[in-house]
Amino acid sequence: MPNTVVVTREEAIAVVQLNRPDVLNALNEELMKELVAVLSALDDDDAIRCIVLTGNERAFAAGADIKETFIAATPVTMLKQDLTANWEAIRRVRTPIIAAVSGYALGGGCELAMACDIIVASETAQFGQPEINLGIIPGAGGTQRLTRTVGKFVANELILTGRRVKADEAKAIGLVAQVYPAASWLDEAKALARTIAEKPPVAVRLATEAIDLAWNATLDAGLEFERKAFYLLFATEDKKEGVDAFVGKRKAIFKGR
Ligand code: CAA
Repeated sequence: MPNTVVVTREEAIAVVQLNRPDVLNALNEELMKELVAVLSALDDDDAIRCIVLTGNERAFAAGADIKETFIAATPVTMLKQDLTANWEAIRRVRTPIIAAVSGYALGGGCELAMACDIIVASETAQFGQPEINLGIIPGAGGTQRLTRTVGKFVANELILTGRRVKADEAKAIGLVAQVYPAASWLDEAKALARTIAEKPPVAVRLATEAIDLAWNATLDAGLEFERKAFYLLFATEDKKEGVDAFVGKRKAIFKGR
């Protein structure tokens, strides 16, 4: 395997680092394939309860690899590459993924962060969909996920101008959950991952599935799923453990059963 993605396991969490620093982690085919393989393997591993997806201080990812992917591209070559398959595979990962963003998250980089479950940022982070400056539009979910996140009017302003949004503004428009100091952003993201890793995994999974449905389904369908998932959780050992621990005034230990 190439080394465009580096995985570090720390007990119940895994840190997945995009690793093409010379090109600001531009997303080429090799990196996307490796990322899908790594995330799928972690998703199959019950010992891993939360994933942190990150880049480096300078860049989370500066988008699709413009030089490698776009220079000679035609609609037919783009179609044959079937880029959608990689993005769909990332979307299917059910272990919660925290995008920990420092520096640039542009184009496909911003779209990759938005394919995760939570986005946290260093105060140095900059988000944007600059595709318009290349004569194209976002092609990995940006027009849909950004609009569902920040609304039509802000999405249009950002996508039609390509303007970059700094961390504080990204938090104000609902794109980012938390902004952390540049000295501690990754440690804070890992601490958040450890907090989630201590929660009951089946409930975590069903919560993220239900929240995703708020994007994909009607309100009635989403409410129906939520109700059934809520009932289902009453059959889990972790629900018994959580309630027993509350009544017994002790810390719950969840096992994912
Ligand atoms: N693809 C390929 N290479 C890239 C890249 C990208 N998206 N972004 C940066 N790089 C490369 C640069 O070419 C440069 O390489 P060289 O040293 O070999 O010249 C290196 O990374 C460092 O970049 P810069 O010298 O440009 O660094 P900077 O600090 O001056 O600027 C930047 C940083 C503002 C992010 C600038 O690099 C930039 O604008 N990058 C392109 C961002 C972009 O347009 N992204 C959208 C791509 S399209 C897309 O993602 C479609 C989609 O929906 C999937």
